[in-house]
Amino acid sequence: MSTGSVSRHGMWSNRWLFILAAAGSAVGLGNIWKFPYIAGENGGGAFVLIYLVCVAFVGIPIMMAEVLIGREGRQSPINTMRKLTEQHHKSGLWTLIGWAGVVAGFLILSYYVVIAGWALFYVLQMGSGALDGATADSASRLFDEFLSDPWQMIMWQTIFMVMVVYIISKGVIKGLERAIRWFMPLLFVLLCVLLGYAVTSDGWSQGVEFMFRLDFSEVTSESVLIALGQAFFTLSLGMGAIMAYGAYLPSGTSIGSTVTIIALLDTAVAIAAGLAIFPIVFANGLEPSQGPGLMFVTVPLAFGQLPLGVVFGTLFFVLVSFAAITSAISISEPALAYLVEEYNAKRGRVAISLGAISWLLGIGTVLSFNVWADVHIVGQLTYFDFVDYVSQNVMLPLGGMFIALFAAYVLPNTVIGAQLGIKSGAAAVAWKVVCGVIAPAAVLVVFIATLFPDLFNAVIALF
Ligand code: TRP
Repeated sequence: MSTGSVSRHGMWSNRWLFILAAAGSAVGLGNIWKFPYIAGENGGGAFVLIYLVCVAFVGIPIMMAEVLIGREGRQSPINTMRKLTEQHHKSGLWTLIGWAGVVAGFLILSYYVVIAGWALFYVLQMGSGALDGATADSASRLFDEFLSDPWQMIMWQTIFMVMVVYIISKGVIKGLERAIRWFMPLLFVLLCVLLGYAVTSDGWSQGVEFMFRLDFSEVTSESVLIALGQAFFTLSLGMGAIMAYGAYLPSGTSIGSTVTIIALLDTAVAIAAGLAIFPIVFANGLEPSQGPGLMFVTVPLAFGQLPLGVVFGTLFFVLVSFAAITSAISISEPALAYLVEEYNAKRGRVAISLGAISWLLGIGTVLSFNVWADVHIVGQLTYFDFVDYVSQNVMLPLGGMFIALFAAYVLPNTVIGAQLGIKSGAAAVAWKVVCGVIAPAAVLVVFIATLFPDLFNAVIALF
């Protein structure tokens, strides 16, 4: 069995560094920027609850599946699937999971970098004092003006992409391990500062109520799909990113507890971000459903009112940018590792081509906020909405479903048992039920519900 082997790309120094790297991948724009705004668009509390259920019953098992497959194969997701299917005489079609992940990775990276560029722009704005004492109006205006200028956005997108390419070309393990150790705790501290401000603001009780009040009247099958997609996105699942990281995890580390720690950290950051942002929304008469601009308007507003707000606010956007970098890196790792293995290519060269393709795809996202704002790909969806929807709500859940099935049924029980450290028959059954039935079934049900929303809403209405 290959559990004792090492990967050619390098290995995490120990279990905690894997946790930090995976948490670095998980904690990103998805938690601080996206979670609050989609919770806002989907009515708050009930959405948050559905999201938590998705993390617990679908996200955690699928993350375990990714880590176990990755550690068993010890290669890029594509070659890991190829190796494992050959070794166990299964259909080579499973390798498509790896390929689909690479495609999803390009799509996600393309817009992720654009939004991360916004955070960089805000480092400069906060730092220059432009947002000192900002009002709801002036903060919204600054953001709208920024969005209407494609050149400005392309410039920040480019700067961020160059940073990502530079880091991934150096190799993930040495450069990042050290940095993540410092940045992640600092980010957490600053979120707590923001949270402290929110607690003392006039909107606190309204914000808390919005986050936790259970009103299912606004829940549709579509919002359940969005909650599921968000669970995948925020935990970096469904495209092989965690599988690639799992390939560098030393043998003998417990997968179950490690994954649980990562999911808890990630969830804590998302909830903290929501609790920090919504009170400010209500205290300033803003709309919780205002969309992608939510964080970029509320956070400057809050820091603009605090002593030393310029310093803290600048630091906050620096840390958000950093959280975005540690995530962007993991999005590109599956494709990068594959190309290095397949063509014996230099990491640096591969990184540049990968960055260039993704950058080009990202231009469409930039234009979606201005020149192409009225161009709709399907229904009301702009290019950005479309790429975001297809990658996050379709490709990640489907990828995750097949990963779960692979880890439950395709791999021999002896392999699964050895990887997960399963000792009792009951534990083996529990794994089959959760990873082989509950998680994939949940994805399937949500998909069918989205294809046939009327049926779903009729069932929901019964409650
Ligand atoms: N989880 C990251 C976030 O919340 C984004 C991310 C990193 C990601 N790697 C991924 C999303 C892989 C999907 C797949 O911002």
